Amino acid sequence: MKILVTGGAGFIGAHLVKNLIDLSHKVLVVDNLKVIGGIPFIHPKCKFIKGDILDNKTLKQIEKWQPKIIYHIAAQSGGESAYDDPKNDYLTNGYGTYLLSLLAKKLKVKKFIYTSSVAVYGSNPQKKINERTKINPDSIYGISKYAGEMFIKQIFKNTNVQTLIFRVFNTYGPGENLNYLKKGMVSIYCSYLWKKKPILVKGSLNRFRNYQYIDDIIDILILSLKNKKLSKNEVINLTTGKPEKVKNLLKKIFKINNKRKYKVREIKGTPGDSFGYNASNVYLKLKFKNYKFTSLEKGLRLYFQWINKVPNSKNLKKYHPFRMAKNT
Ligand SMILES: NC(=O)c1ccc[n+]([C@@H]2O[C@H](COP(=O)([O-])OP(=O)(O)OC[C@H]3O[C@@H](n4cnc5c(N)ncnc54)[C@H](O)[C@@H]3O)[C@@H](O)[C@H]2O)c1
Repeated sequence: MKILVTGGAGFIGAHLVKNLIDLSHKVLVVDNLKVIGGIPFIHPKCKFIKGDILDNKTLKQIEKWQPKIIYHIAAQSGGESAYDDPKNDYLTNGYGTYLLSLLAKKLKVKKFIYTSSVAVYGSNPQKKINERTKINPDSIYGISKYAGEMFIKQIFKNTNVQTLIFRVFNTYGPGENLNYLKKGMVSIYCSYLWKKKPILVKGSLNRFRNYQYIDDIIDILILSLKNKKLSKNEVINLTTGKPEKVKNLLKKIFKINNKRKYKVREIKGTPGDSFGYNASNVYLKLKFKNYKFTSLEKGLRLYFQWINKVPNSKNLKKYHPFRMAKNT
């Protein structure tokens, strides 16, 4: 199957592309390499276009290649970094998704799969969020990701294209950019440990999230290709459904690394950082045969198996897990 993965050089995208190629799919990756969340990785067996989804020339190249399925993963992916450049955030996540949806409609693709975000719900500490919970983003990033969702709903209405919108919750795992401290809560805390520095927690230690290991996200995205239980248009929370406070997450990180005492300091929070998210995955489990998520303990262990092999360096390009695996 010919599959386009936008953002296929980033954290989630690179894992997805590897898995698709292992399954013998033909993969086109379009990425402008402004990766922030991951260490950039271009799979040697994909067709790669270095380009921007906002650029007409890139869209024409995609059209020529004629993908049958699109995973639209490219995004300005950071909640905090959206405040540094709101225009880029809104253009990429909102208008970029609009342009790609129009193209996908023209190409009559079979499926359009979009990684949206928990951020569309806004801060919601009291309730367990489900897919019918009111959308109320309280960050620039949450607004732009939801704009993307709305364009998808509008553009594919009255078409035969199946649209799958996954609201992804905090994801962590090998391949994240440990030098980037503005995205990925787990990665940021692990990064301080990796650098042997005190952990600075932006915001309260009592904030809570659902944390997903990268392999689970990829499993669900891949299973979506053949899952007959999925309806024509789906919106699904992609989450373990298990809340964990930041302070408990840190305890688990310390335990794995045999750190009895480690310096942690709470500092001022960042704009748009919600206090708490905890979501239901009942709908996901219904659609994906009761999918069993990796526990946080196990996921963190797997994550540190990689982190502990990465030397403290400013340039991490050589240390993407797939590149390291190839070199061993
Ligand atoms: N990682 C998480 O915890 C998480 C949580 C919720 C949602 N998401 C969503 O998952 C997707 C992937 O996130 P990630 O963590 O892999 O981030 P990432 O920053 O590692 O990857 C995003 C990729 O998109 C590319 N990109 C950005 N703007 C582009 C543009 N205009 N044209 C072409 N390529 C562009 C980047 O170069 C990068 O490779 C995003 O859509 C993000 O919103 C991620």
